[in-house]
Amino acid sequence: MVRQGERVYGYVNRCPHTGAPLDWMPDQFLDAEGEYIICAVHGALFEIDSGRCVYGPCVNSVLEAIPVFLLQERVILDWPD
Ligand code: FES
Repeated sequence: MVRQGERVYGYVNRCPHTGAPLDWMPDQFLDAEGEYIICAVHGALFEIDSGRCVYGPCVNSVLEAIPVFLLQERVILDWPD
């Protein structure tokens, strides 16, 4: 999950390129500037708000989204059933 202000975005920790985990250290998912989610394996960059890959070997692939929202500083999973 990545929080930006009052928004939170959730994605499965799996790169669409090979299925590898994205984090380069435990719970570290963003690039140095904090602008993109970065894959630790081949450096693909994903937009935080859409999960779409904008750079790397899987351009235009998307991370699998997990529907979440913030409610009184808590992250709520908005999963059907
Ligand atoms: S495994 Fe993520 S970019 Fe290759």
